[in-house]
Amino acid sequence: MEQKKVYGVMLIGCGHIGEQHIEEIYYRDNIKIIACVDYHLETAKTFARRFGSGEAEYDTDYHRFLSRSDLDIVIIATYAETHLSIMRDCTAAGKHVLCEKPIAPTIAQAEEFCAVARASKSKVLIAHILRHNATYKKVAEMIRAGAIGDVRLIRMVQNHHIMNKARYMRLLEDCSPIVDCGVHYVDVIRWFTGLEVTSINGMGGIVSRTIPENTYDYGMITMKLSNGCTAYYEAGWTDTTASENLKEFVGMDGRIKIILAEYRAANKEEGDLIEYYDKRTETYSSINVNCKYKDMYAQLCALIDMIENDTEGSPTLDDAMTAFRIVMQCDKIIRSSLHLDQKTEDTDA
Ligand SMILES: NC(=O)c1ccc[n+]([C@@H]2O[C@H](COP(=O)([O-])OP(=O)(O)OC[C@H]3O[C@@H](n4cnc5c(N)ncnc54)[C@H](O)[C@@H]3O)[C@@H](O)[C@H]2O)c1
Repeated sequence: MEQKKVYGVMLIGCGHIGEQHIEEIYYRDNIKIIACVDYHLETAKTFARRFGSGEAEYDTDYHRFLSRSDLDIVIIATYAETHLSIMRDCTAAGKHVLCEKPIAPTIAQAEEFCAVARASKSKVLIAHILRHNATYKKVAEMIRAGAIGDVRLIRMVQNHHIMNKARYMRLLEDCSPIVDCGVHYVDVIRWFTGLEVTSINGMGGIVSRTIPENTYDYGMITMKLSNGCTAYYEAGWTDTTASENLKEFVGMDGRIKIILAEYRAANKEEGDLIEYYDKRTETYSSINVNCKYKDMYAQLCALIDMIENDTEGSPTLDDAMTAFRIVMQCDKIIRSSLHLDQKTEDTDA
């Protein structure tokens, strides 16, 4: 029997999302953790010990690991402003990259990111984790197969009641939740419907008492899609709002609502709940999907598929860039109403 290739992986950024990546992949037969890197040496060391079977290295700087021939894949789980330079170094060293969203804090940097990734022989996948979630994949299939007919209304809300203020304050320095979370929702809208966003509008503001300068922590965006569908998303990281997650897709022939397991009123052990109403037959059905919300191993396997079969990945760089451009336009609208600047290199975006 042909032996499965074992991929050497380095994690850069041992924070909130870095931990979710590594704890889902470190024990897999085809994965070997080579190194863990973080500005905080003690954190990198803890990760290397915990996930590296006693062999993984650690450091505050990743450069020395890029020459290792047994390193194949780098997971970039750092702040958006560092993504471009780290990805450039990794691909120049011939390593494949799984990079957290958003691609960058500005359109200019994101465009450069895509140009460098396309010019390289390495594979680069932007981590839009919902693309690899079994519940979302099922709903994408249903909507694309016509389960709700012509899609007329999309409602998406994700508010976080922030418990780790320091972490969110650092993320806010790079971008607002309208950008950081918004890239997921705009991507989901395009993926589920195959439609394009034709116009957008938005409002936002400051809800928490203290946030970094020149930003805002809450926003709501309205959009028109190419078939006339109305869509909106709302995203906030505040220390007072309640955590809330609404994902509803309404068509002329029915409606689908995704209720994540943690938000279910009953039978949480059954996993996520897809509530489906078929107007044509006047029937209501409940579909349970027992899956991980953030299936980091499925996402890494998507990158491995790109490497082994020369596939484009999901989302493609074009899809990730389109979602990013749209949320940056939303951000610009909100910032101008609040008299806040977008980063200078994007003044003509
Ligand atoms: N896909 C998702 O669902 C999801 C969820 C949360 C965060 N994210 C994204 O992941 C990224 C990180 O967010 P987080 O919440 O994990 O932040 P975090 O603050 O918890 O962790 C980031 C870690 O990276 C380290 N770091 C940053 N730059 C570094 C560098 N150049 N070298 C070494 N270490 C570095 C920091 O010390 C920190 O430990 C952001 O782009 C964010 O938008 C994605």
